[in-house]
Amino acid sequence: MEKKKITKICCIGAGYVGGPTMAVIAQKCPHIQVTVVDINQARIDAWNDENLENLPVYEPDLDQVVAEARGRNLFFSTEVDTVIKEAEMVFISVNTPTKTYGEGKGQAADLKWIELCARQIAAASDSDKIVVEKSTLPVRTAEAVKDILRNTGGGVKFQILSNPEFLAEGTAVEDLQQADRVLIGGENSPEGKEAIQALVDIYAHWIPREKILTTNVWSSELSKLTANAVLAQRVSSINSLSELCEATEADIDEVSRAIGADSRIGKKFLKASVGFGGSCFQKDILNLVYISRSYGLTEVADYWEQVIKMNDHQKGRFAKKIIKSLYNTVSGKKIAFLGWAFKKDTNDTRESAAIYVADHLLNEKAIISVYDPKVKEKQIQFDLNCLQTRSEEENRSLVNVEVDPYEVCKDSHAVAILTEWDEFKTYDWQKIYDSMLKPAQVFDGRNILDHEALRKIGFRVYAIGKS
Ligand SMILES: NC(=O)c1ccc[n+]([C@@H]2O[C@H](COP(=O)([O-])OP(=O)(O)OC[C@H]3O[C@@H](n4cnc5c(N)ncnc54)[C@H](O)[C@@H]3O)[C@@H](O)[C@H]2O)c1
Repeated sequence: MEKKKITKICCIGAGYVGGPTMAVIAQKCPHIQVTVVDINQARIDAWNDENLENLPVYEPDLDQVVAEARGRNLFFSTEVDTVIKEAEMVFISVNTPTKTYGEGKGQAADLKWIELCARQIAAASDSDKIVVEKSTLPVRTAEAVKDILRNTGGGVKFQILSNPEFLAEGTAVEDLQQADRVLIGGENSPEGKEAIQALVDIYAHWIPREKILTTNVWSSELSKLTANAVLAQRVSSINSLSELCEATEADIDEVSRAIGADSRIGKKFLKASVGFGGSCFQKDILNLVYISRSYGLTEVADYWEQVIKMNDHQKGRFAKKIIKSLYNTVSGKKIAFLGWAFKKDTNDTRESAAIYVADHLLNEKAIISVYDPKVKEKQIQFDLNCLQTRSEEENRSLVNVEVDPYEVCKDSHAVAILTEWDEFKTYDWQKIYDSMLKPAQVFDGRNILDHEALRKIGFRVYAIGKS
């Protein structure tokens, strides 16, 4: 492969990763033309919307980055083939959800969209390209991508790199601008090394060289799954102990602080909660479990599967606690949900704990009223309908979404905190108390409120990991 300078990048997939990642590359590399393509016309239109409040992804400061680069060297388009053809480097950033059918159903990653991308790149290319896997993929996926590209690419040469994304939603822009590390896996051949170098040179415009790690492709692919598995494991570990705290009068926040002060452990990711959500943790662990089983590594698979089981248990336990505290019946009772997104500072609701807690309560015929500062009613109904637990009409009649949090709490028996949005801490809780049915109860699934102050007002408070 002849050495070339990258002047045009194409990214396939304008989602939570493709959009912000490419926006930051374009911001930091004004000499490179970056075009993000997607088959979803509505999503592309939203990325091109003049009103930056309508961008399809909400992330703090993302609007500013897009405002700076869009139209200069950052573009969003549905002309997938043309943009691929013109680019020297093509990122694949499409979704890789858990399979919902066939072999590996419920565990393996569905690589349908990855394969489609590989075939489309092969068909559209008439010059050599570097193809970068940005999506999270099972270890050894690059082999399949390579096979498709080499056998259908009509003599064009492709180099495949793995460059998993470690950004966290809610802090995506900051994570991209000041990454702890960038990981690039490639082939250990002269062409492979040259391709790695081309990508290193891009990141080196703003990431210090010592933070750009290069490995073989398989280590890179597996490192992404492992990073998510270990992060989720910390959450499940602390959540498992939160149940023990409730039984023993220990306090989970005090335990977290005590163990987090140990520099070998560190304090991050030790906050007990109603359970982790998001599009990645569960999907990536299930994938790890599936891969381990497919290699016959039963103990390894069972070990990681437990992280998911504990998370499911934590969500169910929270819902059961609400039911028990409301005298074992929530039928016909209004329960206020503050928060629906899977974490604060994002509008992403995928696998959010709120969905499963709501589903549990709806099975008991509760009436749920929801407020989230960034999630719209349509998304909330969509999330519940996806579970197929009840009809769309039933979900519509049992779940009501408001734009005013005080309206949501009015006449409710209980308020449940499902997302740790900062604004919840600043509410007039006396006003909320006065508008609720008594005894007024708060279930703080994120341990963010001042529980003593709430008790003084008259609330009954349940918090995770506190007796
Ligand atoms: N969301 C995160 O926080 C995060 C973090 C790190 C890694 N990842 C990984 O990044 C990948 C993308 O995740 P996401 O959250 O951005 O997903 P997403 O669903 O938000 O976006 C994927 C986009 O790809 C588009 N797409 C699918 N097939 C296409 C095709 N053939 N041509 C053009 N467009 C196509 C879809 O229309 C969609 O807009 C996944 O593998 C995920 O595991 C996600």
